[in-house]
Amino acid sequence: ADLGSFITALPKAELHLHIEGSLEPELMFALAERNGITIPYRSVEEVRAAYAFSNLQDFLDIYYAGAAVLQTRADFHDLATAYFDRAAADGVIHAEIMFDPQTHTERGVAFAIVIEGLLSAMAQAEARHGMTTRLILCFLRHLSEEAAFATLAEAEPWLEHITAVGLDSSELGHPPAKFARVFAAARAKGLKITAHAGEEGPPAYVWEVLDIIGTDRIDHGNRALEDAALVERLRTADMTLTVCPLSNLKLCVVDDLANHPIDRMLAAGLKATLNSDDPAYFGGTIADNYRAVAQARGLDRAALATLARNSFTGSFLPHETIASHL
Ligand code: ADE
Ligand code: ZN
Repeated sequence: ADLGSFITALPKAELHLHIEGSLEPELMFALAERNGITIPYRSVEEVRAAYAFSNLQDFLDIYYAGAAVLQTRADFHDLATAYFDRAAADGVIHAEIMFDPQTHTERGVAFAIVIEGLLSAMAQAEARHGMTTRLILCFLRHLSEEAAFATLAEAEPWLEHITAVGLDSSELGHPPAKFARVFAAARAKGLKITAHAGEEGPPAYVWEVLDIIGTDRIDHGNRALEDAALVERLRTADMTLTVCPLSNLKLCVVDDLANHPIDRMLAAGLKATLNSDDPAYFGGTIADNYRAVAQARGLDRAALATLARNSFTGSFLPHETIASHL
């Protein structure tokens, strides 16, 4: 079989996927029409043309604006179902999806609407595709600690359906330590922890995530490579990094995929995984990410299999289930 088919057939877990970032322009138009909402684009082509970003904030402005079409339980259900159907076709057998409740509660859509729509799609995907799913609630780091605490309080009735909390949005100027107390409170409730760090932010932010927050995973982590002591710390901690190559390219974290550090991470003994981040905005699914780095960095099948294996050992599944996937 060719490498593309090998990649699709390889059982994979996706660990870094923002469900709001899986909103394809076609569904954006359909939901805008269904909800009587005006969006600032005339066509799907015009939307795709607007997806040219020079940094993370450029993208976030457009991503938060796009989320305005999401209004009802059915909208969140349809959004997540479209993602799970594509992921299953891509060979994803386990998906841990992130959502940003504050993006929705801030514009008057209730937390219950959002999570009930996502949970029904998760149950349906498990039944239809035989996959497993988990939900990660992310706090927006450009908002306050107080707002994050309020969000954690809103999540209280659904804690048995939430596996972890995460930290996303604008990284520069928003060091992780601002949320240390919220993450400690989440940990006390039995939740796992992950945080975006070292995407645009400096190695110091990755150190903070390790030393002050105490995470189970790090999302991205690219800039950790600038600090040899940090690389050593991540390696000895066996810390999983959820790396997103097409995202890195579109947000100018790397200038060219030919310079992507994924194989340097593996060579340094880091537990890297491959993920799609916001596939509708960055031009590719998880399998597209595997194919893109395989081509750009010349990864062989053994390296791709290692990355897929890391996605299970780095997942929040129970140990017995992880063992059954290895
Ligand atoms: N929200 C959605 N995608 C993100 C990313 N790549 N970095 C930070 N926040 C995000
Ligand atoms: Zn992300």
